[in-house]
Amino acid sequence: MRRLAVSRLRPGMRVARPLYSSSGTLLINRGVVLTAGIIRRLVELGVPGLYIEDGLALDLPVEDVIRDETRLKAVQQVRELLTAENGAERLQRALVRVEKIARTIDEIIDELLAKKDLVVNLTDIRTWDDYTFCHSVNVCVLSLLTGLTLGLSRADLFHLGMGTILHDLGKVKVPRDILNKATRLTDEEFSVIKRHTQWGYQMAQEIATVSRLAATIPLQHHERYQGQGYPGGLQGAEIHDLAAICGIADVFDALTADRIYRPAVPVHEAYEYLAATGGYLFDYRLVRAFLENVAPYPAGTLVRLSTGEVALVVGTRRGKPKCPLVRVFLAADGRRLAPYELDLAEETQVYIGEVIPGDQFLHSTTVEGSPD
Ligand SMILES: [Fe+2]
Repeated sequence: MRRLAVSRLRPGMRVARPLYSSSGTLLINRGVVLTAGIIRRLVELGVPGLYIEDGLALDLPVEDVIRDETRLKAVQQVRELLTAENGAERLQRALVRVEKIARTIDEIIDELLAKKDLVVNLTDIRTWDDYTFCHSVNVCVLSLLTGLTLGLSRADLFHLGMGTILHDLGKVKVPRDILNKATRLTDEEFSVIKRHTQWGYQMAQEIATVSRLAATIPLQHHERYQGQGYPGGLQGAEIHDLAAICGIADVFDALTADRIYRPAVPVHEAYEYLAATGGYLFDYRLVRAFLENVAPYPAGTLVRLSTGEVALVVGTRRGKPKCPLVRVFLAADGRRLAPYELDLAEETQVYIGEVIPGDQFLHSTTVEGSPD
């Protein structure tokens, strides 16, 4: 399967992963064959993209690091919390919601512990209708994976999970017209946005389920290693590791998301960008632990190999991020091959030359090669 922008979808393509709204409604299920009408509806709804089957990797479904149901539940709980209206009862209701979130964090940690060998292989695990809620959950999961790699205790993982899922809690106090502004922010507007760190800290401290350590994450997640961040301009060890991990995951997930003002950055570019921030924006040790859990060439990425052949990435082995397992289907001269698999971790002479835009070679593979 591979992910395509909605503008690239064509009738006859088959959906490979279900798509949900952030309230949990199933929008389109796996196996559905697209029609012109469905595609029109997706465009109207503003859906950015879909995973579709391409006939080359049907027997290798990509597994997320946590179950779809758990992710969806977390997204809904964050949504309930972050859309809580201001008022006298707000805090009381928020308390109940945070207790539910705490139970979900425990479930996420259990699932991650049970699937230690998986790396993050999905390029878009967002529901289609709201960036913020899915982003909070993605940052939480990516941070917990990093925490596991660093060998954090169960107690610290819980603080990390709570603090990261609530890292942008303070944004509920930022006026919506500033938060959703598609054009450039004025200095004054940006200074209001920056205050979401302190507001989030204060709000988190009012909630008994959130420890002081977890509350440090909303406060410090925009601090940067050499003092370039805000609100405190803290440096190095002044920034708590848990908050720095959140900062790394926040940057990565924001880069790899489609936004109103720019399309997603390809995962391998976001990977290289982060690798270059070690010792500058972030502590190198933490960046390295983060990158161990991310596939720079996620399953479904189309690549041209150093041999000139074209292949589809079908999996990534932990510890060998740049040498995924690929399925070769086109020769260097463009001839169609009987697809065969190549493990680039073992074939050390062959490497990835470039990433090819996702919709190329699709027509021939879908229409002719799709077994029913
Ligand atoms: Fe933030």
